[in-house]
Amino acid sequence: MHYGRGREQVWDQRSGRCFVNKFSAPQIRLTTTGCVAMVSFLGPLFVGQPIHAAGGPFTAQQAEDGHTKYNSHCAQCHRPNLQGGTGPALTGDAFKGKWAGKPVADLRTYNQTKMPPNAPGTLPDDQIDPITAYILSKNGVPPGDTPLGEDTASAQIPK
Ligand code: HEC
Repeated sequence: MHYGRGREQVWDQRSGRCFVNKFSAPQIRLTTTGCVAMVSFLGPLFVGQPIHAAGGPFTAQQAEDGHTKYNSHCAQCHRPNLQGGTGPALTGDAFKGKWAGKPVADLRTYNQTKMPPNAPGTLPDDQIDPITAYILSKNGVPPGDTPLGEDTASAQIPK
């Protein structure tokens, strides 16, 4: 499943040839089957980024971990179901309307520098990353292979 996107990119639409040819001796010509087989094998090495981009910039385990941390630090105001209480809802149309299309980094930075309002900036990365992952997962963003962290936070929150 994961490799579907990689294959599309690797298969050169215009020439109808496997791009692997471009890196091989010119006399080698791969058939479609050969290309797919080769890419299935080498794909993860070549197209790591597109594969990861297919899922969210966080792992399922991170979101699960974030659930507990969210309950400890955020649920008192945003409620355990994220529907909002003292603080606004962190899921649903209004929330998505505000954050979708923005970099994950914006949400991560907001959480870290503004929340909780009575002690902003107190939660370290190992709390903020899982909590942000949990909030994304509760907004329908699917988990991927790469844990959320500074280097993946440029990914966009899907619309
Ligand atoms: C003491 C109550 C309280 C706690 C605890 C708290 N928040 Fe908030 N949160 C608020 C309030 C109030 C706002 C609205 C702030 C504003 O509009 O300026 C808010 C706003 C937000 C927003 C922006 C929502 C939007 O509509 O854009 C996010 C995201 C958020 N909080 C995340 C968190 C996270 C993550 C935690 C835990 C680390 C947390 N909050 C803990 C009260 C709280």
